[in-house]
Amino acid sequence: MDVRFVTAGGGDVVAVMAGEGGQLLPAAQALDAATGGRIAKAMKAVRFTGGLGSAIDVLAPEGVEFSRILVIGVGKPESADSMAVERWAGHAVRRTITSGAEKLVLQPDALPNVSKAEAGAHAAMGARLASYRFDAYRTKMKPEQTASLAAVEIMMDGTAAARARAEKDSAIVDGVYFARDLVSEPANVLYPESFAERLRDLETLGVEVDVLDVPTMEKLGMGALLGVAQGSARPARLVTMKWSGSSAKGGKPIALVGKGVTFDTGGISIKPAAAMDEMKGDMGGAAAVAGALKAIATRKAKANVVGVVALVENMPGANAQRPGDIVHTMSGQTIEVLNTDAEGRLILADAVWYAQDKFDPSAVIDLATLTGAVIVALGHDHAGLFANDEDLANAIVAAGQSEGEPVWRLPLGAGYDKMIDSPNADMKNISGKPAAGSIVGAQFIKRFVRDGVPWAHIDIAGTASKPGPYEDPLSPAWATGYGVRLLNRLIASRYED
Ligand code: BES
Ligand code: MN
Ligand code: ZN
Repeated sequence: MDVRFVTAGGGDVVAVMAGEGGQLLPAAQALDAATGGRIAKAMKAVRFTGGLGSAIDVLAPEGVEFSRILVIGVGKPESADSMAVERWAGHAVRRTITSGAEKLVLQPDALPNVSKAEAGAHAAMGARLASYRFDAYRTKMKPEQTASLAAVEIMMDGTAAARARAEKDSAIVDGVYFARDLVSEPANVLYPESFAERLRDLETLGVEVDVLDVPTMEKLGMGALLGVAQGSARPARLVTMKWSGSSAKGGKPIALVGKGVTFDTGGISIKPAAAMDEMKGDMGGAAAVAGALKAIATRKAKANVVGVVALVENMPGANAQRPGDIVHTMSGQTIEVLNTDAEGRLILADAVWYAQDKFDPSAVIDLATLTGAVIVALGHDHAGLFANDEDLANAIVAAGQSEGEPVWRLPLGAGYDKMIDSPNADMKNISGKPAAGSIVGAQFIKRFVRDGVPWAHIDIAGTASKPGPYEDPLSPAWATGYGVRLLNRLIASRYED
């Protein structure tokens, strides 16, 4: 969908802002005057609140250059931030995308905490994110299911500054779309090799992409990663994506590591049938890392960043690993695999170690759809954050907050670490107790982080995809692309020259 900035003109639908309590912001006031007070009248008639996302729909009278006027709330203007503007624009798109309208005109106003240029740029961002669809495989859509909206125009004065910001931000949208597409793809289309092929496309942006095959990983001693993959007919891949944008060419990179289980049946510890299809999204961590690399390379970030994604399919089968198997990791440590469904931590054990061994990073952040327990604890609104470094944790919390991808920190500790000691190997991959499941997963990964390396683990099992109906207008499908914006912002605020 095309998003443009204009200073005047008409369209099928125009969207304007109102604040909580129902006061009209300037663009809405002007339209109210032009329509002889119809907006104020309609607001009264339906008890419009102006709360974020609340809306009224007014058919425009003759003499106005639109057919339909949408008044959408931004909430309390004093507390509205740039995310409120994005959601305002997102609601406008959601209400028009399949309506038959071809052109939507947004008239954002400045708010006490959002300048006019920011409001314009975030309106563009919100409109783009909200117009995401995954309908590549739908060959028989009815006209009313098909997107009619072809263009969004942001109408405002001072377009130059807003347009400049929005052009930069479109790199972020590209990254989010990339991640959403990867998460949405079914596992018969997206498997380790085809995933790796898609990551090769990042080379056109100047990212150095390296794909490790099974013999190479065998030589490196990645027994934990390969143990998970051995039950599948699809061979595993480990892909590294290197972006060297800092002027300090040799400067240490930040390493982003992603869990990429292209389908998680559970393996021999097989999952129940209900909703197992959702395990096509068990590569959301890898998708977030790939999307972040796409965003930072597209906007030519002045930072050194390396992405490492472990790509496997977890299947039962004649060659699958068994509960009780003991595997050797690249780090030299051994793991007793008591549950083949706790596979994410197994592949991350080798991927996190490899990232440190190969790239000597200044910090490591891994993202993974690791545990169902994080959904029990935090639902679908916050991801779980674990970290061994206060500054890194605080920076991640702040980045998530400002980008609408919040994280909530959970503890680590020696008592939890003890829960994965095993009499038969250096550790076991589950505690065997129905307690602190997400923390135990984090403690396991921590055993593969070298002393002195700042590390954070983000459990995105609840946020990488969301059950419908999809409340957040910026994320209109099951796959959210969660993590791309957080990582991009973290790099921009902490790791750029
Ligand atoms: N991929 C799952 C976690 C998951 C669950 C992601 C629901 C998204 C939605 C992971 O591999 C898994 O199976 N974890 C187990 C761990 C357990 C065996 C210790 C779980 O959460 O039950
Ligand atoms: Mn699993
Ligand atoms: Zn999994």
